[in-house]
Amino acid sequence: MSDLLRVEELKVNYYSSKGKVYALRGVSFNIKRGEIYGIIGETGSGKTTICHAVMGFIGKKADISGRIFFKGRNLLTLKEKELRKLYCREMALLPQSIASLNPLMTIGTHIEETLRARSNIRGAQSLKKKALDLLMTFQFSDPKLVYRSFPSQLSGGMNQRAVMAITFCCSPSLVIADEPTKSLDLGLKDSFLETMDRLKGDRNISMLIVTHDLEVVEKVCDGIAVIYDGLFVETGKAGDVMSMPLHPYTRSLIQALPKNGMCPTWGFAPSSLENNDGCSFQPRCPVGKRLEKKHIVPSSVMVGKDHLVWCCDVKG
Ligand SMILES: Nc1ncnc2c1ncn2[C@@H]1O[C@H](COP(=O)(O)OP(=O)(O)O)[C@@H](O)[C@H]1O
Ligand code: SF4
Ligand SMILES: [Mg+2]
Repeated sequence: MSDLLRVEELKVNYYSSKGKVYALRGVSFNIKRGEIYGIIGETGSGKTTICHAVMGFIGKKADISGRIFFKGRNLLTLKEKELRKLYCREMALLPQSIASLNPLMTIGTHIEETLRARSNIRGAQSLKKKALDLLMTFQFSDPKLVYRSFPSQLSGGMNQRAVMAITFCCSPSLVIADEPTKSLDLGLKDSFLETMDRLKGDRNISMLIVTHDLEVVEKVCDGIAVIYDGLFVETGKAGDVMSMPLHPYTRSLIQALPKNGMCPTWGFAPSSLENNDGCSFQPRCPVGKRLEKKHIVPSSVMVGKDHLVWCCDVKG
């Protein structure tokens, strides 16, 4: 399968009152057509910055460098007008919560408004037909009822599915989800994971999901990257990384899962204000913290097909 999105050596620095913030220090990844790619890491590691860079939201007050190829074109060199067209028609951002629904609009109106703004479908009948088809795809047993319902007339799980139907209604080539389960209670999270599971099988969907919730990437993603302090520390197929985590940080994330006893990662996340060539994880690393000398992160070590780790303690 060909690459839909290819990000190469992406670096972003912000400027704050405390100084320069090294939010991304050079990350590279590919998303193939039909692939769901997850980026997992704790708060402040640079996940939202990746989404913003791909969506073109990094303002002029930040430095951005590297390359972001979408369907072969480098977004960082495209003209504003071309970018706007591309973002409107080809990419969609999945809202974090069902609060994004307008309580005064029916689900049908939500879908039709989005279709009007982001597709070529016109005419009341065509719009309604598309909306009903879509609600059917998202497993609503009575699409006509949902079409004319207001959010307050539906359950939380149904609204969650409606939000997803609205996001996917224009068949965007790439859907970006920034912490899609952050504001969901357990029931809604299950509903999200179930819908994602079905989408994976049913449609040719490409998605970038960034999250601090390992359960999401474990259940939903094909490929994953583990990010720490603006750098990837481990990447690979989700199954390989989850079954054979090699970087101490990835291991600590897996140990923090409820099914593994919820042992949180010891210590604090580093400050993004420093940019040194040592391993940022060293103060929290069971191997590194015993050492007096600084561990310099090596270039990636390949431990299997598509499985890469950035750690001195891992041999290829
Ligand atoms: N607009 C901004 N100005 C200054 N610093 C920022 C800005 N946005 C994010 N940061 C900083 O960049 C780093 C990465 O942030 P972010 O991408 O939001 O991480 P995450 O989504 O993983 O929590 C953090 O240190 C954060 O404080
Ligand atoms: S490079 Fe060294 S300090 Fe960093 S995670 Fe690996 S073993 Fe630990
Ligand atoms: Mg974030």
